[in-house]
Amino acid sequence: MKLEIKDLFIESVDGNKIVNDFSFIQEDEIIIGLIGKGGCGKTTLAYAISGIIPKFLNYYKKGEIFIDNINIDTIEKSEIGKYVGIVFQNPDYQIFFNNVESEVGFPVNFSKGQTEKIMELLGIEDLKNKKTDYLSYGEKKLVILASNLSLDPKIIVLDEVFSSLDKYYKKKIINFLKQLKKQGKIIIIIENEIDKIPYFDRITELL
Ligand SMILES: Nc1ncnc2c1ncn2[C@@H]1O[C@H](COP(=O)(O)OP(=O)(O)O)[C@@H](O)[C@H]1O
Ligand SMILES: [Mg+2]
Repeated sequence: MKLEIKDLFIESVDGNKIVNDFSFIQEDEIIIGLIGKGGCGKTTLAYAISGIIPKFLNYYKKGEIFIDNINIDTIEKSEIGKYVGIVFQNPDYQIFFNNVESEVGFPVNFSKGQTEKIMELLGIEDLKNKKTDYLSYGEKKLVILASNLSLDPKIIVLDEVFSSLDKYYKKKIINFLKQLKKQGKIIIIIENEIDKIPYFDRITELL
């Protein structure tokens, strides 16, 4: 697994420079902590790594991002989830279905058995028949992580996912991320302060 970001520059359409020539390279599985103060462009960078910019959001972008030497600009919108999964700070923006099983199985047509297996791995099989509306914040984030994993992405980005979680969910998610690392994935944990990252192997600061 390899992630390479070359001279990434992102500007909003109204000319606000957000990411200034950011370069980064990582080969092999790892948990990376990406920190930077509020407003420095972390979420924008996360959108770029996951292809949301420019595939779904209109920003001016220069520079390239390669995953296993494939330029992500050349990956179809419908395929990008097989390369990068992303979990946002606010899970309510990412839940589309009213029952957990459909949410986890989306967007691939997962069989019931496959969905159950992922939920078991994450230890959330008890949530299977629940309505997503009634889940706690931590449960919602786990469901979104499970749903991302249904596509088996090579890279997983968690954008300020830990800040609002209690110890129980922090531990549960970090233990699971360590297992994913062992499977060869690159995991990027974004927070505004280093103390908020429960575990990392390498730290990068976005200025
Ligand atoms: N579409 C946009 N138009 C103008 N400014 C934007 C746009 N998107 C983000 N920004 C600005 O870019 C800066 C970085 O935003 P963001 O990536 O969300 O930072 P972070 O996640 O580090 O807090 C902020 O000042 C934000 O207001
Ligand atoms: Mg942010």
